[in-house]
Amino acid sequence: MARQLVELLAPSVAFRESNVETNRKVWDLYAKDWRPDCEWVRKMADNLGEEWNDADLEFIGDEWSDRYSLQQVLDEFILPYCLQGCKAMEIGCGGGRVAVKVIPSCGEFHCADISSEMLRKAKQKVKELGLEAGRKVAFDYLEAAQLPADCTETFDFIYSFDCFPHCDSHTIFQYLKEIRRALKSEGRAMIHTANITTEPGFKRFAKQKEASVQGFCFTSPDIIRTLVKNAGLEIVKESSVDGNNIYYSRDFLCVLRKSG
Ligand SMILES: C[S@@+](CC[C@H](N)C(=O)[O-])C[C@H]1O[C@@H](n2cnc3c(N)ncnc32)[C@H](O)[C@@H]1O
Repeated sequence: MARQLVELLAPSVAFRESNVETNRKVWDLYAKDWRPDCEWVRKMADNLGEEWNDADLEFIGDEWSDRYSLQQVLDEFILPYCLQGCKAMEIGCGGGRVAVKVIPSCGEFHCADISSEMLRKAKQKVKELGLEAGRKVAFDYLEAAQLPADCTETFDFIYSFDCFPHCDSHTIFQYLKEIRRALKSEGRAMIHTANITTEPGFKRFAKQKEASVQGFCFTSPDIIRTLVKNAGLEIVKESSVDGNNIYYSRDFLCVLRKSG
């Protein structure tokens, strides 16, 4: 009976695409199609609830959040951990919207992503802005939820912003273990995840029929705390719900260090 069941289920299991592969397809397409004058990009920007003009659509993702919310996250959860001259990495860097604001603090910065199209756009922006002068900027194409093999105990700071809301819990856990491996002993990490326990988070969850890459894959702070602990990390700072900031009101952010 057990064997029959396994045989029956095997094809559907085999045909199910992994979360990483779906993310790769979706974000490659997004990056290929994205242009500031695209109707769908401009429609998304119209939904932000703030005035914008053409100059505000400079990077892929400028249509995802208001400028105030992003700046507050940078000021409170990213830049304070990026000490001058440090070695840092962003997992899921996209078109470089956040990375270009962090790179000037770093001696070495790694833009990491599973989407080659996103990495291409990020590289273009880094070049345009001359950010490679005086430091090393690397572009790491990730085949899977694994950081480069040669980066054990290498980074002072690793962060992932606006990427894990699109990843399932197993992928997030895999990255947390990788982050532990790649961090120096005194290093810090920052992750950002979806949060079903907030009002806007639940509203978004209820609109989806299933976990989705185009939408979100929902987690809760308790799930994240469990994954963090079991990856050999501990939380040193958590976001609290704040209705003035889209990310703090809907999602969950936390700063991590190695435990034990
Ligand atoms: C919403 S975009 C955010 C990009 C950037 N962090 C920002 O805030 O502008 C999500 C990015 O995460 C990347 N991504 C999705 N799943 C990933 C995974 N498993 N590993 C690495 N990157 C991933 C996508 O390719 C995409 O570039």
